[in-house]
Formats: sequence, C-alpha cells, structure tokens
Amino acid sequence: MCGIIGYAGSGNAVPIIVEGLKKLEYRGYDSAGIAIRGAAGFEVVKQKGRLAALEGRIKDSPLKGSLGIGHTRWATHGEPSDVNSHPHLGSGSRIAVVHNGIIENYKQLKERLERRGIVFASQTDSEVIAQLAEYYYDGNLLDTVIKTANALEGSYALGIMCLEEPDTLVAVKKDNPLIVGVSDTGNFIASDIPAILEHTNKVYYLNDKEIAVITEKDVRFFNMDKEPFGKELETITWSVDSAEKGGFAHFMLKEIMEQPKVVKETINSANIELPDISQFNKLVITACGSAYNAGVVSKYVFERLCRLPSIEVELASEFRYKDAVVDDKTLVILISQSGETADTIAAMREAKNKGAVTLSIVNVVGSTIAKEADHTIYTAAGPEIAVATTKAFSTQLIVLYMLAIKFAARLNRLSPEGEAELLAEIATLPGKIAEILESVDFIQKYASECVGYKSIFFIGRNIDYAIALEGSLKLKEISYIHSEAYAGGELKHGTISLVEENTLVVTISCCKRLHSKILSNAEQVISRGAKVLLVANTNEVESTDKLSQIRLPEIHELFSPSLSVVVLQLFSYYVAANKGLDIDKPRNLAKSVTVE
Ligand code: AGP
Repeated sequence: MCGIIGYAGSGNAVPIIVEGLKKLEYRGYDSAGIAIRGAAGFEVVKQKGRLAALEGRIKDSPLKGSLGIGHTRWATHGEPSDVNSHPHLGSGSRIAVVHNGIIENYKQLKERLERRGIVFASQTDSEVIAQLAEYYYDGNLLDTVIKTANALEGSYALGIMCLEEPDTLVAVKKDNPLIVGVSDTGNFIASDIPAILEHTNKVYYLNDKEIAVITEKDVRFFNMDKEPFGKELETITWSVDSAEKGGFAHFMLKEIMEQPKVVKETINSANIELPDISQFNKLVITACGSAYNAGVVSKYVFERLCRLPSIEVELASEFRYKDAVVDDKTLVILISQSGETADTIAAMREAKNKGAVTLSIVNVVGSTIAKEADHTIYTAAGPEIAVATTKAFSTQLIVLYMLAIKFAARLNRLSPEGEAELLAEIATLPGKIAEILESVDFIQKYASECVGYKSIFFIGRNIDYAIALEGSLKLKEISYIHSEAYAGGELKHGTISLVEENTLVVTISCCKRLHSKILSNAEQVISRGAKVLLVANTNEVESTDKLSQIRLPEIHELFSPSLSVVVLQLFSYYVAANKGLDIDKPRNLAKSVTVE
C-alpha cells in the first residue's frame, strides 16, 4: 500500500504535505514525492528512498504553493526509483496524480494511449491514470475524473490536480481508504487520520466511487453521475500525541507499553449488539498475518467455551479462493487492524456472496471491512503506527474472548456465574500486562544476547502453540532472524532435525495440564544442543546455563496468550533493537496490505 495526502488552503502546502507524509510513511517507504501547483505550473520533486531523502531534495530546491499532493510508496508495479515515484504527470504536464492501489487493466489502457502517441515515463500502473485523465481533459476536472475512474479496473484512492484549475484538488476512491479533512485554513485529503490530525479533527470518510472536489474554501461531494450530495462530518477523538512517539525510541515500543490502557479501554467498550449465535451451525474465522494468529488463539477459546460442531480458522488469502463451504447458517468472523487488507476484504465479500453472516473485528473506524461487514466490533487500540502490530493484536484477543463468552452464555454452555467469573478474570488482564511491562530488564538483557542466533523456534501446546505463531512472526518481521513456530508434540516428526548448537527454542507453557509435556519437549531440544527460553506461569523448573525462564502472572489458561504475547513482543523488539534495525519500518513490508 501507499500513503497519499493533498492540501488546498491558504498556507504553504509544502511543509503540510511533508509532515503529513511522515505520518503516512508506515504505509510504504521505498520512495516519496510531492507536486505543488506553483506560479508557472506543477513543480514536482520525487525521490527514491526514505522521506528524509525527499526532504533533502526539497531543501536544495525550495517549493512553494498553496495547492499540492504528496505520496509515499510501497512498490507494486515498477521497482522503487525516482521515475516510478508519485506524483505522476501526464506527458503534457497538465494533470498530476497520486495513487494508492492497483490498476488491473493498466496494460490495456497504456497500449490504447500509446497507440495515440502518448509516451510513458515510468513502469507503474499509476501513470496510466495521469495520462488517461490528461487525454480525457476537456475543460472540467470533475467530468474528467468521472470519465477516468469509470475506465479504471482495480483499486484506487486518488488525489488529482489539473493545470487549468489551479485552486482545485479532486479525490475519488475505490477499495482503498481516503478521508477528507476540513479546517478554517484549508482542506485536506489523506489515506489516514494521523496525516492531518495536527490541522483538523473534522473529517469525512469517502465511500467507494464518491468524489470530493476540494478548494481552500469548500468541499463538495458528487457521485459518478455528477449528482451532488451531502455527507456527515465526523469528529476524531484521538489526540495528536497518540500518533507521536512521545519520547520512545520506536512506535513499536510505545505501542507495546500502551497495552494495559488499550486493553482496558477495549474491555470497557466492546459492548455491541451481537448476531444470535444459536442460528449458526458453523463458525469460520478468517484474517491475515497477526490477525490470523489472533484467530488461531480464539479457535481454542471458542471451542472450549461454545462447543460448536464446526469452528474453522482460515487464512483469508486461502479462504477467498477455496470455494468455502459456508452458507446462511455460518457466521464468518473477519479480523483486521486496518480494515483494508485486500485478502480479508475479498474473503468477506466471498462469504457474503455465499449468504454467510459476517462479523468484523476492526481497529480503523470507517474502514472498508468495518463498513461492509454485517456486524462490526471496534477494538480500542487507537492509531497503530509500527508495522509490526502489538496493541491492536492484544485488543483483538480481548474482543474474541468476550465474544466467545457471550456466545457460550447464549448457547447455555456457561452459567451466569461462569460468565461473570470469566469476565472478571479478563478484567485483571490490564494490571497483569502492566506488571510484565514494569520488569523488562531481564527480557532486554536476554534479548541482547540473542542477536547471533541463525534460527529461533517457538514451541507450545494448544493455546500456547497458537501464541507461539505470533511470537515467531513478530521476531522474523522485525529482526530478520529465521524463525518457525511448532506445536511441541510435532517436533519429533521432523523439525527436531534442525535443532543444533546455535538454536534457541522459546518454549511457552501456560497450560498447566500440559506443562510436563512441553517441558519434555524442551528437554529433547536441550539434549540436542539448543538453548531454551521458557515463558511460563510456573516456577517448578530450575534455570540452568541451557534454560532461562520468564515467569508470567497467573491467569485462566484461555486468556494466557494476552500475557505471554507481551513477553514475546518485547523479546522481538529488543533483539531487533540490539541489531540496530529499523524496527518501525521493516524491509519489504507495509502496515496494511491493500494488494494481493
Ligand atoms: C503483523 O505484525 C503484520 N504486520 C501483519 O501480519 C498484519 O497483521 C496483517 O497484514 C494483517 O493486517 P490487518 O490486521 O490490517 O488486516
């Protein structure tokens, strides 16, 4: 995905756009660019690399103007390079475009335009939008955007400027997020709220195929038939600080530390009208990455509490193409921090087409999944900036636990007392997470000694295995150390052959009844030369030079992932920090994956 921003106002657009791009850099960071409507036409600066490189270029050749657009890129079509960076211009330099998304029919459109003599400068799919709009332009930018958008297949959030209309910025979206912000000193478009929060907390959420025509003084909305309509202005309640590092070295550490607060807020706010679970005979949970791991954890909770005949967890990228057996007796739960992950959106649409009822657990208000699902529960994680999710994951777990409890009660699998007991146990989580966060010294020191490992395995059994998946994903995405998660009992079926001297096996043991089983797995790897870090809620084991341990507070087994994951997040964070890596923006990744 990419980040886009645009401004039409009374101030100088350049610092507003550059500062906004800094807040969007989590969405893509292989190149960036800016186009300003200057006195003589468009002034464009584009630069491969991080935003800092673009800033350097802008300092060398200062730009000024009160209308502009900016972009930070995660390359899909065409390598990261200056020429492939956005904004893209038509070959007559009359139209400038920033794009987030993928134009699926760009080859056909490009060929058509090339046949008419238009020469393309980049290898991107996005340039075709600028070239097409310039080709169509007939004196009215709104008409041109409608015609252009009608010709595009795929996904897009677009900011478009035209040389002949020097005060106007036009925005349109399909399947990628776009907001419009309004203030007394100008109006904005952006991929996400933090980009403009410093200037305004009043926003409109654009829906698919809605067009915003923006000038310094006003914002007007049109549909694709050019009919004007009104929209509801929303007020964002986040503070500007919530999107700042606030003294922490990285957003990831700040977000880990925020977990007691956001977990508490999610516990207090996850109060919604639920579908009647008794009408379903099947539950499918689908998501990607960490959100999928939250789904795997929840499968154990739903199974134990609800005893439904069929509960499945599916990667959304698999679910969407497998011709899933779902119907109107199936509840499909979608989990997504961003609410914009392309595979999860596709899975949701596939489930809905088959008649299933959909329930989404989403962090970003007004996102596609939140809006399209039949039921939506918001996590109260606030803005999550680090690419590696931490606090959003923790709040997803809370919503899933609470859903499972509510469903179990509705199915008469839990007595009112049983329900109250479990809810009371969940209410202790913020305090227990805070306890772990108060004593990070051991984890920090231990992690500093782990930077040399070539391979780190994570093992657990049952729900501990589910959280091992998340520990392993977290480590590899930010530390670049090879890692796998295995169910402890599965090691002997092949993986143990990989265990040797320079191997660390992080062993999670929070299921008391399986403690001796997983400990014997730990013994097996130790006797083959590995070292073990035991993350457990027991102190029955003695530490040795081969086995170190981190003791977790006591909690009901089903909710223990909320504690063990915090240790695993800190471990990954400190390993990556000791390697001096760019933790908030790991290589090749982007915060949400809005492409396939
Ligand atoms: C986790 O740290 C990841 N960066 C990634 O796996 C993420 O969880 C996944 O892409 C899903 O994103 P979503 O929650 O926004 O749908």
